[in-house]
Amino acid sequence: MLDLIIVSIITLLACRYIRNSKRLPIPPGPGGLPLLGNALQIPKECSWLTFTEWAKTFGPIMYLSIIGSPVIVLSSREAVIDLLEKKSLIYSDRPVAPMAGELAGMQKYTSMLSYGHRHRKGRKMMLGMLTGIGKAQGVHTAQEAMAATFISRLRCSPSEYRAHIHWLVAASALELTYGIRSDSSDDPYQLAIVKAMEALSETMAPGAYLVDAIPSLKYVPEWLPGASFKKRAREVADNLSSIENRLFRVTREQVDRGEARQSFVANFLTENGDATPEDDELCREVAIQIYAGILMLLQTASVLLSFFLIMAQYPHVQRNAQIEVDAVVGDRSPQYSDRKFMPYLEALLKEVYRWNPVSPLAMPHQVRHEDVYAGYRIPAGSTILANTWALTHDPELYPDPDEVIPERYLDGTDKSLNPDPRDFVFGYGRRVCPGKTLADDTVFIVAASVLAAFTISDATSLKGEKIKYRGGIISHPDDFTCTITPRRPVG
Ligand code: HEM
Repeated sequence: MLDLIIVSIITLLACRYIRNSKRLPIPPGPGGLPLLGNALQIPKECSWLTFTEWAKTFGPIMYLSIIGSPVIVLSSREAVIDLLEKKSLIYSDRPVAPMAGELAGMQKYTSMLSYGHRHRKGRKMMLGMLTGIGKAQGVHTAQEAMAATFISRLRCSPSEYRAHIHWLVAASALELTYGIRSDSSDDPYQLAIVKAMEALSETMAPGAYLVDAIPSLKYVPEWLPGASFKKRAREVADNLSSIENRLFRVTREQVDRGEARQSFVANFLTENGDATPEDDELCREVAIQIYAGILMLLQTASVLLSFFLIMAQYPHVQRNAQIEVDAVVGDRSPQYSDRKFMPYLEALLKEVYRWNPVSPLAMPHQVRHEDVYAGYRIPAGSTILANTWALTHDPELYPDPDEVIPERYLDGTDKSLNPDPRDFVFGYGRRVCPGKTLADDTVFIVAASVLAAFTISDATSLKGEKIKYRGGIISHPDDFTCTITPRRPVG
């Protein structure tokens, strides 16, 4: 009886809450056109800058409508933490993209799945592959060796630094994930995956396909005139699954023959001899995402390019970092174990992440149920964009945010200032980037090795203008040349 009374009271309160919340306003935002909403007001390039400007008028919780779909942009640390972290149980779905997700087959991947059992299982497997006792050491040794090869390539042809960064990232991705060595960017695996990734980003480009605006178009038959997008989606899906299967098969065969090199996939297969076909399938999908994660976010998103640019534009910062690296490593090459003795470099890397975050809007989240926050109603199913760029350029958090000042992290007297930007740039809550440690380790070893070996100067835009950051989803600097001078003769 008591149970019944409690349930009735809770139901009554819930109904009243829902009724009241219906009366609450949605968050403020810029007015838009009928039907299209704000779709035409959002620039294709650097939309995070426009969102940051709008937030000055409409506040840190802003409502946009894109062809009838509600989008909430969060532009303050408080709002991001309150919703994406503290209420992560309901703020961790992904919006469905009809073209890339449903038609081109991306929806089966962990990064695109709605929050739930399969997503959790995929993440667990990925984290198990990437971290764990004994694994870090092997990964570090492989990364140190690749950083050393990168330095000798850079020494031979410094003007081709972009190509060398490209090689480093692509080769690391293939070797760490599948244990496959690749000496050149023309490697057939590299070419196949680059092609698959390019095709995929084409299907993901906002506004590129009408079916993303009118999802019911996905039901039209492929043979109908005007339905060529369906054929394209099928090609993209087939292409991706063919490379995913090929790479997995190569490692599986090597493991079966007892010839596999250490890699995330080989380790998984060796440690899980009794894996079910379902586990194998998940492992294949997780592996291609690790591979693509390393490739996409380190290469095109160009954390390393930002590092080169900052070194050239802030010579005193470079000098301070070199003094520290020299004092720790002397004449030998830097190693992971040196990191704890390099607080200045640690602070510099925080600035590299903060100054121009690679994913300025993270990845879109979706809220599962209607919610109420700060007196506003957040409609169920809204896409939630965390404006990471706005957070890392908030002058109340980072005074003088447009300048690169590693010292800001070294003076820890005011705890409310200069939080670690890695808490923002790798995303939020239950969707936080599972590759965070791997990425951060890679950036450290490359940065330390470059500082020990070279001085970088004279960054000049190929367009002859000030070097700007661009991009639709991922931010990268304009093409630039720079001078890379060896600091000491080869020993
Ligand atoms: C500097 C490099 C990197 C940056 C800045 C970065 C950043 C991000 C961000 C912002 C997200 C979205 C999180 C969210 O939705 O709130 C994300 C997700 C993800 N990242 Fe990374 N990432 C990097 C490297 C990597 C690497 C190396 C891997 C592969 C091991 C990886 C794999 C993933 C995956 C699979 C997801 C989706 C997670 C999910 O939906 O649960 N990332 N990353």
